[in-house]
Amino acid sequence: MNNKFKIGMILVLLLATLAMQNTATAQLKAETAEQKSKRMEWWTDARFGMFIHWGLYALPARHEWVKNAERMTNEQYQKYFEEFNPDLYNPKEWARMAKEAGMKYVVLTAKHHEGFCQFDSKFTDYKSTNTPFGRDVIKEYVEALRAEGLKVGFYYSLIDWHHPDYTIDDNHPQRQVSDSAYTRLNKNRDMSKYREYLKNQVRELLTNYGEISVIWFDFSFPGKHGKDHKDWGSEDLLKMVRTLQPGIIIDDRLDLKDQDGGWDFESPEQYKVEKWPTRNGKKIAWETCQTFSGSWGYYRDENTWKSTPQLLELLIESVSKGGNLLLNVGPTARGVFDFRAQDRLRSMGEWMKYNNRSIYNCTEAPAEFVAPANTLLTYNPKTKRLYIHLLSYPMGNLVLKNMGDKVKYIQFLHDASEIKFSKGDGQNNLNLELPVQKPPVEIAVLEVILK
Ligand code: GLC
Repeated sequence: MNNKFKIGMILVLLLATLAMQNTATAQLKAETAEQKSKRMEWWTDARFGMFIHWGLYALPARHEWVKNAERMTNEQYQKYFEEFNPDLYNPKEWARMAKEAGMKYVVLTAKHHEGFCQFDSKFTDYKSTNTPFGRDVIKEYVEALRAEGLKVGFYYSLIDWHHPDYTIDDNHPQRQVSDSAYTRLNKNRDMSKYREYLKNQVRELLTNYGEISVIWFDFSFPGKHGKDHKDWGSEDLLKMVRTLQPGIIIDDRLDLKDQDGGWDFESPEQYKVEKWPTRNGKKIAWETCQTFSGSWGYYRDENTWKSTPQLLELLIESVSKGGNLLLNVGPTARGVFDFRAQDRLRSMGEWMKYNNRSIYNCTEAPAEFVAPANTLLTYNPKTKRLYIHLLSYPMGNLVLKNMGDKVKYIQFLHDASEIKFSKGDGQNNLNLELPVQKPPVEIAVLEVILK
């Protein structure tokens, strides 16, 4: 190679890199609201996804924060790494169960706060391939999901309680009380090295496994002994993410809430929103993540499990306020879903099989429709159908206020059987004749075909 050619090549590479960075910046800032909702359309249509928290914490089986709660050192936690051997791991089963429950996408912890990696990263030895199990969990998971037509998501913990350069903070198992103790412990830790590590790993995840539809970063906690976007290099990280996977959907925990394009959806955790969340007066995309019981990781002795009707109500209510539900499973250290989770998923799937038309592609109903007592409304803007979910089944009749001139036909959704109605009292109300007996579905849904 002559020198001129070499210089030419270097220039071309440099320009290409610059161009890539520019596109990334553009993607962070200059997407229109229409472009954004187009990019997120499959996700808002899907409404229902599965979260999976699975790591070494499945072995102690007492919360994914166990290392923190019991203030364990890396040495004390090491036994779980040495025993990690989930012989029944079969992500095809996981994918099948998610699909049968009616879920359209899945988000699995590639790394949780404990720092253990479920993928064959070049940048650490602390990974599944180095345990007795020896397999790349993520790789098999991705393949299984794709085979079922489910969208693939990764959760990646910004927090890392194992990495030697990750500085001790308020949320760390070795947290301290005095400033001087923090200074002493962090003397030889270098966050810039950790930042590089985190970026390298995210690059691996978004390069080695094909198209990734969702990435879930978790989480920032600004403050004196906390961590914020500067610690993670959030902006830089996000630009890389958008460059590697232009279509990807990103949560809001990178501490870039004030940045245009710094996040795609709000992620209320374990609580029901009062109404459709807004920012600067505009309704925003949101997804609530929820557990079946209190913990995200497998917790053998935790007994506060939600019932199927409660879970269905959570799903319906989220859609009725324009949001998604990401429902979490914590597989055991054998690699299977907790039997209680399997049971709930099965019954939710049973309901979804006959009623998913009131969930997929649906959203909050227009304000002109008033929900009767003990009901939740959803609405499909394309088919212009309104769905009335009867949370507590009424006795014999139901009145729809102010809808006398709007309705063409009404049926039960699960069996498409006609519901007769009449204009009752001279006002613009409709009186619906319902069978006295509740139909054999957990929550009965009326499908209202509008004029
Ligand atoms: C919290 C917890 C974490 C869990 C996450 C899910 O931030 O730290 O354990 O993964 O919520 O949203």
